[in-house]
Amino acid sequence: MNRESFPSELIKAVRSAERVAVLTGAGVSAESGVPTFREAQTGLWLKYKPEELATAEAFLRDPLMVWEWYAWRRGRVEDVQPNPGHVALAQLEKILTERGSNFTLITQNVDGLHQRAGSRNVVELHGNIRRVKCFDEGIVVNTWDDDGERPPRCPHCGAMLRPDVVWFGENLPIHALQKAYQAAELCGVFFSVGTSGLVQPAASLPMLALAQQAIVIEVNPQETPLTSSATYALMGKSGEVLPGLVAVI
Ligand code: OAD
Repeated sequence: MNRESFPSELIKAVRSAERVAVLTGAGVSAESGVPTFREAQTGLWLKYKPEELATAEAFLRDPLMVWEWYAWRRGRVEDVQPNPGHVALAQLEKILTERGSNFTLITQNVDGLHQRAGSRNVVELHGNIRRVKCFDEGIVVNTWDDDGERPPRCPHCGAMLRPDVVWFGENLPIHALQKAYQAAELCGVFFSVGTSGLVQPAASLPMLALAQQAIVIEVNPQETPLTSSATYALMGKSGEVLPGLVAVI
């Protein structure tokens, strides 16, 4: 997108907002080649449904299998790189915070690509696949022995370690959720990027921002339930639209 593609009112709003919040979903990582949750099943894992692996019940029934599935997905995430959409969001944060604005990036993705691209104030609503925690106590563990027992054990209490992601049937991390709601409530500009807006509670965040009179900008090549109520709908890929926008901010 070139400069003329962005309404001047949109550019003015982003430049002058004291608080900006961004919500991202799987679409922002699509151009990095990260398969979405449901696309991710190939080879050995084809016969399993993600919904049947990403639960605490599945882990208790067959901890080794669930651990190995996540180890495989972690490997795939480590093999890819942040794309121009991730980089543009990190640049937007840098530009706006240097000018004194507050910037919060809320993501539903567990791939850690925003941080690898340089984003700093990141709220992870669904956890991070590169982190593990104690199954019993929920304490995050930074290093574990990958060559010993599988799943590896918590160095503090000996319980099994599990990925630090939100499984089906689990609540979202409360601190992350509070920060996300606060950012959506207080912002003057809210971006919804690469998310279908179908999964709650993330999907309610742009609605909350709209209710507080924020300007809501959607970036998505497809229409979503948000499109008709967004202040601006930029129909395109995040890796193409966002670098163009950052260039004029
Ligand atoms: P979805 O897979 O539901 O939606 C992806 C969205 O990205 C769609 O609206 C696509 O049109 C859009 N999209 C595709 N390519 C894009 C691109 N290059 N640039 C911009 N947008 C693009 O993903 P999420 O909305 O993230 O939850 O799904 C939310 C949650 O549902 C996930 O975090 C996961 C899943 O169940 C948990 O695992 C807890």
